[in-house]
Amino acid sequence: MAHTPYYLIDKSKLLRNMEKIAYVREHSGAKALLALKCFATWSVFDFMSDYMDGTTSSSLYEVKLGRAKFGKETHAYSVAYSDDEIKEVIENADKIIFNSISQLTRFADAASGIVRGLRLNPQVSTSSFDLADPARPFSRLGEWDVAKVEAVMDRISGFMIHNNCENSDFDLFDKMLTDIEDKFRSLLSRVEWVSLGGGIHFTGENYPIDKFCARLRAFSEKYGVQVYLEPGEASITKSTTLEVTVLDTLFNGKNLAIVDSSIEAHMLDLLIYREPAKIEPNTGNHPYMICGKSCLAGDVFGEFSFENAIKVGDRISIQDAAGYTMVKKNWFNGVGMPSIVIKELDGSERVIREFTFDDYVSSLS
Ligand SMILES: Cc1ncc(COP(=O)(O)O)c(C=O)c1O
Repeated sequence: MAHTPYYLIDKSKLLRNMEKIAYVREHSGAKALLALKCFATWSVFDFMSDYMDGTTSSSLYEVKLGRAKFGKETHAYSVAYSDDEIKEVIENADKIIFNSISQLTRFADAASGIVRGLRLNPQVSTSSFDLADPARPFSRLGEWDVAKVEAVMDRISGFMIHNNCENSDFDLFDKMLTDIEDKFRSLLSRVEWVSLGGGIHFTGENYPIDKFCARLRAFSEKYGVQVYLEPGEASITKSTTLEVTVLDTLFNGKNLAIVDSSIEAHMLDLLIYREPAKIEPNTGNHPYMICGKSCLAGDVFGEFSFENAIKVGDRISIQDAAGYTMVKKNWFNGVGMPSIVIKELDGSERVIREFTFDDYVSSLS
């Protein structure tokens, strides 16, 4: 049995998402690339690569990881490439997507031998968080001026457009895509491929997956393009828990339980977006505030209801802990970093990575 804290990736749950992705690929003709920014735990890439077409990336290191550990089709994207990394990015990618016309122009020679694309920004998104809104005022994420893009069409064969964010509403996706068509119609029919980015929660329960497939296929046929999807969260949603142990309990007007993990160090996005963690079933007559062990006053996972009073040594599973967690974990306070454990399809658990004091030391100098 692994020591807590640890991220527990359950392959049978991951499989449910993978099968939905495979279904969408088959019925829509779209290709699906895992967005490594969300999930880059490469020990399960062999498993995932049977159901997906490859990876997409946000940096040199991610593109190298995708090529080395996932294989298949490898897309490179970055908000800005530097002179000293562009060669290696190209060596490790099948397609390179530039964020701006100026980067496309600057690296025209270096990238002349690889398939090139440009990021478009439709200036509208589904995000309710300014921080995560690619269409926020003065956004640096992609080009929006059709006349300017027209001038470089001879250099590119595709576009990447990412403007959905945690979007589980098919009608809203449909509206966004229509809006993209209205804005960029003249450009879309002149390229060979269009990536619609991530942020579409099509693997969620009750998502009208057949309507989604039909919409993608219609888009692809109308413009004669290969559609790509870049699912991050949709690939791994609900596959993983963060397993923690209660170290102390206090009463301070509310019942508090302190666990051997930290929201700031191990589930940072919840803190950034001010969202509570999920604990199931979250019913019962014993309310507790579940707190992390870092010294940050607001290191709180949330308030939950439990069936029984919590005692030191109890185990708690924090749900939905795969996306933007392991890729963002950090050594704040020197809190022990969660191990990574895989639950195989036969139910057996395998520790694939433990982090030690030496890892902490070597992350600094
Ligand atoms: C360009 C691009 N593609 C894909 C993704 C993955 O998004 P998600 O994890 O919401 O599916 C992101 C997330 O920010 C992104 O910026």
